[in-house]
Amino acid sequence: MKKFPKGFLWGGAVAANQYEGGWNEGGKGVSVSDCARHHLDVDVQDYAKQNEISTEEILKAMKSDDTSLYPKRHGSDGYHHYKEDIKLFAEMGFKVFRLSIAWSRIFPNGDDKEPNEEGLKFYDDVFDECHKYGIEPLVTMSHYEPPINLVLNYDGWYDREVIDMFIKYVDVITDRYKDKVKYWLTFNEVDSMIRHPYTTGGLVRDRFEGKNFTEVIFQAMHHQFVASALATKIAHEKNPDCKVGCMLTKLTYYPYTCKPEDVLQAQQDMRSTYCYSDTQVFGEYPAYLLTKFKNEGLNIKMEEHDLEIMKKYPVDFVSFSYYSSSCVAKDDAGLKKTAANTNIAIKNPYIPSSDWGWQIDPIGLRVSLVDLYDRYRKPLFIVENGLGAKDELVNGTVDDQYRIDYFDAHFREMYNAIYEDGVDLMGYTSWGCIDLVSESTKQMSKRYGFIYVDADDLGNGTYKRYKKKSFDWYKHVIETNGSCL
Ligand code: BG6
Repeated sequence: MKKFPKGFLWGGAVAANQYEGGWNEGGKGVSVSDCARHHLDVDVQDYAKQNEISTEEILKAMKSDDTSLYPKRHGSDGYHHYKEDIKLFAEMGFKVFRLSIAWSRIFPNGDDKEPNEEGLKFYDDVFDECHKYGIEPLVTMSHYEPPINLVLNYDGWYDREVIDMFIKYVDVITDRYKDKVKYWLTFNEVDSMIRHPYTTGGLVRDRFEGKNFTEVIFQAMHHQFVASALATKIAHEKNPDCKVGCMLTKLTYYPYTCKPEDVLQAQQDMRSTYCYSDTQVFGEYPAYLLTKFKNEGLNIKMEEHDLEIMKKYPVDFVSFSYYSSSCVAKDDAGLKKTAANTNIAIKNPYIPSSDWGWQIDPIGLRVSLVDLYDRYRKPLFIVENGLGAKDELVNGTVDDQYRIDYFDAHFREMYNAIYEDGVDLMGYTSWGCIDLVSESTKQMSKRYGFIYVDADDLGNGTYKRYKKKSFDWYKHVIETNGSCL
């Protein structure tokens, strides 16, 4: 195989809420994720249940110091281990490290007058540590980390005031880190608010009684679209050379059969996730969303300059997560279903599944790359992909050949997309390059990393790091820029 393009950004990704821990240290405020309890008692297929939370549960969580019930409070304890971790990433040869800034470390309540210097200093140190090894940080501004105060006292992103608070936070971080961060992402999986309104939008259903909750969600999304455009503007003003991307969940839908009804269903489902990144790339609402608002009588309040702002500040590149494809049918009654990333899909008889039922489809990654590139004609960045598996630590390592096989197959399809299909792919960051707490099930045992973290689902363990077999394998891929595949 020939090499991947010169300068290809190989690396790995984490998010503060799943990796850092240190939930009440360094002046950090409580975030939405700190109040999300584990779901060890909930069926993995029951995605809706995993994401439901009530005001009462939040208030209960806020009174509790428990870290075992609320696993994101301990994460991988990256807050205390980041130097050791970045050193390991450097050993693998990472060119880029994707992480998020926890908003509640910088503005503990979201509406504070002044930022928390200790939080700002923490990320200074993290970015310095990356640069020490020539690793470029790729930073998500918001990855399920709104301060809980914004949920309880402002109704999350439904409240227009939250745009101003977010912009103040963006102004502070893009100014402080203008010489340290070249790549920014505004909102992680911007389309996901529809599937998990609480973690993405800070929306709790019982706070909107009497209101149409779909309208609430789309109002909150509108606020995020405006905020994303303003954040792009500000980041460019602080550093004209920086690049800002959007981030979408690439839920690649296949029709379960060639019945025209199923094909139409797949197309409609696909449009229903593209429409959010469309607003950030094209700077305007797609016909799909405007028609939906009209047909469903959703009254989305927009201020005079909102559409102008969205049009003026589109993103520079398109990033996305891809784990699996999903089969859909017009009538799926009686068909076997399985869990996927934030959704439930019909089981595809032609491909295998992970330990958590997510279907493994490397060709689907190529399909996704081609679709996105043809649609947007902007550079693409795969910022999440990987295999959540049950790893077993034996004699200080994990023989995760299954993970190597997963990556190998996906990298080959990236190669094909670049060299056969002409896709402009900037880089690749595997999800959870070091084990962390899962978003959907809040389990530590759903492991994605090249590095094993000794902690269990309840947070017990030494948090010692161990290299898995895939560690050296990925190191070799990066060393040879993919030509060893
Ligand atoms: C993406 C999220 O949806 O999928 C991550 O951006 C998440 O935060 C990842 O961790 C994998 O999902 P899970 O549920 O296996 O952690």
